[in-house]
Amino acid sequence: MTVLQECVFVDGIRTPNARAHAEKGWFRDVRPDELLTVLYNAIFKRNSQVKPEDLDGVFIGSANASGMQSDIARLSWLASKMPASVPTQTISNACPSGMSAIMDAARSILTGENDIMLAGGAEDMEKVAMGANMDMPPRLWEIMKPEEIFVGPTAEKVAEQYKISKEDMVKFAAHSNRCAAKARDDGKFKHEIIPLMGKKEDGTEFLVISDQWIRDNPNEEKMMMMKSPFKEGGVVSAATSSPLTAGAAIVLMMNREKADELGVSYTYKYSFGTQAGNDPTVMGVGPINAVNLLFKKTGLGPDDIGAIELNEAFASQSLAVIRELKLDNDKAPFEKVNTWGGAMALGHPLGQSGARILVTLLNRLNTDYPGAKYGLATLCGFLGNSNAVLIEKA
Ligand SMILES: CC(C)(COP(=O)(O)OP(=O)(O)OC[C@H]1O[C@@H](n2cnc3c(N)ncnc32)[C@H](O)[C@@H]1OP(=O)(O)O)[C@@H](O)C(=O)NCCC(=O)NCCS
Repeated sequence: MTVLQECVFVDGIRTPNARAHAEKGWFRDVRPDELLTVLYNAIFKRNSQVKPEDLDGVFIGSANASGMQSDIARLSWLASKMPASVPTQTISNACPSGMSAIMDAARSILTGENDIMLAGGAEDMEKVAMGANMDMPPRLWEIMKPEEIFVGPTAEKVAEQYKISKEDMVKFAAHSNRCAAKARDDGKFKHEIIPLMGKKEDGTEFLVISDQWIRDNPNEEKMMMMKSPFKEGGVVSAATSSPLTAGAAIVLMMNREKADELGVSYTYKYSFGTQAGNDPTVMGVGPINAVNLLFKKTGLGPDDIGAIELNEAFASQSLAVIRELKLDNDKAPFEKVNTWGGAMALGHPLGQSGARILVTLLNRLNTDYPGAKYGLATLCGFLGNSNAVLIEKA
């Protein structure tokens, strides 16, 4: 691709992910815009060469951009006492929203329109529930059935179509939790997580430094016994679904020349991004289309990619994507995919996750894969919208 400027990733941070639960969630008294405030303050503290007023734009993704998440980019920015002179934009296309925000920001740098951008995503699935305030066009029900496109049932259909067994899903989810627990205990997330105050289940205030959902010792026998909330006699359960979650993540991106002028360091740049649509009734396998498109357009293949972050919305769709694209081993353990765990353990705050997996990908590449030229992040979304982003050593 001919680009006018290169777009480098200068920094990427996130909040811990907490359960989105009215009684048990550690962030039950923290609004999603407040999660973003913590990140805005932290990113300028960590990168003191950059001032808020230097930004050309702030793009924030949120899957349900209503209620507390209405125009969350503008409202979180202004409420954080950041300069009104910086333009903001809220981006909403279901789960890919955070990644779409980063892609749009990166593209605005590649074209030369902008030099310094902040982009990411935020979501609290308890304060703004999935589908809240959505008024779907009744005409849609002439061509599809509601019970077929709600995401839980799509995970069942993917398991059936791609012959993913319950046992493999349970092993996948358990593996994800073990990887996340190990990464947390090894201090791998310290670089990306910005701690903030939350509340334990008993109401005690405490500094939240890690993700709430991670299960240190997943019990595969118990997980095998758990029933499907989505289909009578189905194979998907709460243990093999991403939990309802709250969290935020952002990245600081710059025109490479601007970064050099400011003296900030970077290791990876935005290389290429794709968006692909697919059948909403099997929305979880959308990354197959997005990544195949990316491979076709770049001439690369799975062997060229050092590390991969694949959002684990459900174990069934993750396994189908890994197998169809031959991204890694056929089943866990994996060498390239989500070696620090994924959404099964870390959670999936819808519009945040596309940004979170890019933050973690940058961190993983810098920490565990010093020789890797390329990294790939991809995720599916409600109604059949998927994104993939390729990043390349700068
Ligand atoms: C699956 C789902 C319906 C379950 O919701 P829920 O019934 O509120 O379930 P919870 O997540 O609170 O978990 C229920 C119980 O399951 C149990 N559980 C979950 N995972 C478990 C595991 N790995 N091992 C053992 N028990 C587990 C827990 O005991 C939990 O109870 P607790 O509150 O005492 O900890 C919900 O998490 C969901 O909808 N997930 C998908 C979200 C989604 O669609 N995202 C978009 C994707 S595109």
